[in-house]
Amino acid sequence: TKGGYEHYMYKEIHEQPGALRRTTQSRLNTHAGGVELEEFPPESFADVKQVHLLAMGTSHHAGMYAASLLNSRGIPAYAFMAGEYSVIKPPVTPDTLVVAVSQSGETADTLDAVRRARAAGARTLAVTNVVGSSITRECDDELLIRAGPEIGVAATKTFSSQVTALTLLTERLVEDVTGAKSPEARDLMEALSRLPGDVQEVLDTSMAREIAIEYEGSDAYFFIGRGVAHPVALEGALKFKEISYEHAEGFAASELKHGPLALVTPLSPVFAIFTGHEDEATLSNVKEVQARGAPVIAITSDRSGEVTEFADHVLRIPDTHPDIAGVLANVQLQLVAYHAADLLERPIDKPRNLAKCVTVE
Ligand code: F6R
Repeated sequence: TKGGYEHYMYKEIHEQPGALRRTTQSRLNTHAGGVELEEFPPESFADVKQVHLLAMGTSHHAGMYAASLLNSRGIPAYAFMAGEYSVIKPPVTPDTLVVAVSQSGETADTLDAVRRARAAGARTLAVTNVVGSSITRECDDELLIRAGPEIGVAATKTFSSQVTALTLLTERLVEDVTGAKSPEARDLMEALSRLPGDVQEVLDTSMAREIAIEYEGSDAYFFIGRGVAHPVALEGALKFKEISYEHAEGFAASELKHGPLALVTPLSPVFAIFTGHEDEATLSNVKEVQARGAPVIAITSDRSGEVTEFADHVLRIPDTHPDIAGVLANVQLQLVAYHAADLLERPIDKPRNLAKCVTVE
């Protein structure tokens, strides 16, 4: 049941602290700064040379997020839309780890892509929320995200749990491939142990409804970020468009000047996501859109205080490790999308034309 909430989506957004506790339960060793994934015997991934992450929609954004983390630690990683992967057929070798990310474990595009990769000789790993789902049968290994059942068509808590599980997997891969923990590991494990509480803080203090009210009736809504904030920008826009039916687009902040800036007007609020990676560069993008009259809503912990000085509004997130700050920023954007759709009285749990699980290609 919706347990007193008006929509499953709102309930599931609020379930995130518990979901994240389950995702990380008994998998974090904050003391040693390590990851404990019992699913995989010691040195399971020692031979991995590159990682392909295959997924669709929200799960693809989690895949992009993970690719960014893996690359930053020296492991070549590429996130593909599963539907495109089947067409492009990137070469794989036995030392390619193909990670299929699917909440439901039943998405036809993702199943098809992973089947092809396996047939071509890759090693395959399913990252899913559903025990016994088709994807777990198609893959050599599985990593459960343990977010609990998700009923709203818009994926919310499962994105947070996917990113968290993939962050753990990233650190484990680094350990196995290089024989040593990444320099980030200890601080990151600490930050992951605080993540449920940090998400709770966002839920308790968010000004997202006020922002949704302020900008109701805009022509379009844009979302920008770089590094891990790029997939968060795409995810913020996806959630916004799918439940509000308003025009929303996410861009890499670096891409703005190469075209999208032509769309920016005083009637297109821009949500700028700051995670502590290259914030200076994103701040200069903020100034560019402001020069075209667009209001800017910054999602930031604003450690330096500099962002608040320029942004028209701030949706604040607790200060945390930059590699997982995107999860907190995304919670703010989930709430913005929810409230915007709620003000428009959209059928939030069952948006038009969409299904929870897409079992046709
Ligand atoms: C968006 C959404 C979809 C799914 C996509 C993949 O809110 O829910 O974009 O993320 O259809 O679904 P799974 O993860 O079940 O493979």
